[in-house]
Amino acid sequence: MVKICCIGAGYVGGPTMAMIALKCHDIEVVVVDISKPRIAAWNSDELPIYEPGLDEVVKERRGKNLFFSTDVQKHVAEADIIFVSVNTPTKTRGLGAGKAADLTYWESAARMIADVSKTDKIVVEKSTVPVKTAEAIEKILTKNGHGIEFQILSNPEFLAEGTAVEDLLKPDRVLIGGRETPKGQAAIQALAAVYAHWVPKENIITTNLWSAELSKLAANAFLAQRISSINAMSALCEATGANVSEVAYAIGKDSRIGPKFLQSSVGFGGSCFQKDILNLVYICECNGLPEVAAYWKQVVDINDYQKSRFVNRVVGSMFNTISGKKIAILGFAFKKDTGDTRETPAIDVTNGLLRDRALVSVYDPQVTEEQMRRDLSQEKFAWDHPAHIQPASPASAQKVGYVMDPYQATKDAHGVCILTEWDEFKKMDWQKVYDNMVKPAFVFDGRNIINPEELRKIGFIVYSIGKPLDPFVKDVSALV
Ligand code: UDX
Ligand code: UDX
Ligand code: ADP
Repeated sequence: MVKICCIGAGYVGGPTMAMIALKCHDIEVVVVDISKPRIAAWNSDELPIYEPGLDEVVKERRGKNLFFSTDVQKHVAEADIIFVSVNTPTKTRGLGAGKAADLTYWESAARMIADVSKTDKIVVEKSTVPVKTAEAIEKILTKNGHGIEFQILSNPEFLAEGTAVEDLLKPDRVLIGGRETPKGQAAIQALAAVYAHWVPKENIITTNLWSAELSKLAANAFLAQRISSINAMSALCEATGANVSEVAYAIGKDSRIGPKFLQSSVGFGGSCFQKDILNLVYICECNGLPEVAAYWKQVVDINDYQKSRFVNRVVGSMFNTISGKKIAILGFAFKKDTGDTRETPAIDVTNGLLRDRALVSVYDPQVTEEQMRRDLSQEKFAWDHPAHIQPASPASAQKVGYVMDPYQATKDAHGVCILTEWDEFKKMDWQKVYDNMVKPAFVFDGRNIINPEELRKIGFIVYSIGKPLDPFVKDVSALV
């Protein structure tokens, strides 16, 4: 029986290994992590991450060929294939701070693998890492591995949160990069054989190591670029009276452009896009390509611009002052169907509103109060550095109300900001919301999920990203 061990029981490692266990009953899969609470949660009825359909997959295979353990060394020693899916945060200090990937966790995992291995291993990079990391890892393993053969593969993950199970079941492609030597090719085939249990062969792409590593960064950069492109258009739409949804539909009909990832929003979030682009920017700079670096950096700059533009619209529409006014935030997760808040635009928007002294009340169906408090009191990039997490500071985070119900959040509010596209916000009783708000009552839709005309009929003043401006917003904005 082939034995697989995955180091890192996070958003990537957990679901990916659960799917391998589901589809490959002849393989034993053990997911290990240094975090005891995380492993305990994977072994309980309350999984540590919310992902539609994941509970069923885990329940089906857990205890059969899927195991979660903190005994990292034992399972690494026993495995034939080791996936490494540990966090790769953005560096917060030293060389490359704010851009480069911090490979501390990766390096310590690699040293541990070298220490405990007694048999040959295939080591698979699963977390996004800078191009050429495999080379560094290979050196650490071979210099410390007491003559054991290590083959390094890059097998980047393309799943998106909220649809992880679906993405793993039917991936557009599986990408495996490895050395162009006979042993490297054999390792690629061994890993391809795992995926071939359920992925059609033509969808399993094999490349050299560097192409696989770079493809992951490139894919995320291209996806994020589409969002920044449509968000840049949204600002121009508001200035000209065009409607960004109509523009997106019209351009998406061109088969060379395609309709996906053209949803204008308050900005993209998530653990990957910003981090991977900044990483790409850093790699370009280090390779003497400042023009290429500047090109990609703009994708992040436009995203930051979009978030501050949204805050400016809120403040500007409400007579240039939100001091002491209650503002409801509906949705804190970085997208719907996940409880994940990493790099969510809600953090920057909430902090922006707090800086203008608003009284903020937040509701999200999946994010805990503790998580939101931590997010609002942390420094930029701190979220992925467990050791650097600061205690929830009493400063801004404490001024926010965290409520369990959207109607409570919006009661007596002057304005409502929709920051995550949860389905329940589309189905809300907006008349009831309106009746309980201070007038004039404002809705700022950062996800374009409500029908502005319907809400205007109720009496709301509505701002939707990239849509023709409400005459009220236009008039007031002209004044300030
Ligand atoms: C373009 C648009 O495609 C068309 O829809 C619009 O109406 C007019 O402008 P055109 O300029 O005729 O059409 O040619 P197109 O095929 O788009 O190519 C434009 C340039 O891009 C060419 O120099 C082409 O060589 C180059 N190109 C195109 C690339 O370098 N790489 C590509 O992948 C595609
Ligand atoms: C992304 C990639 O899609 C995935 O392939 C990669 O493996 C990890 O990074 P994820 O971050 O989970 O996945 O979510 P994604 O659906 O890509 O959304 C990222 C952000 O972009 C979200 O904040 C989302 O709301 C936003 N978004 C997405 C838009 O604003 N508009 C769109 O049209 C699409
Ligand atoms: P991702 O979104 O890439 O899956 P996460 O941050 O959700 O990232 O998960 C990474 C996991 O890796 C965390 O649970 C962390 O505790 C774990 N981890 C980090 N370093 C090690 C290590 N050396 N050994 C075992 N687990 C580790």
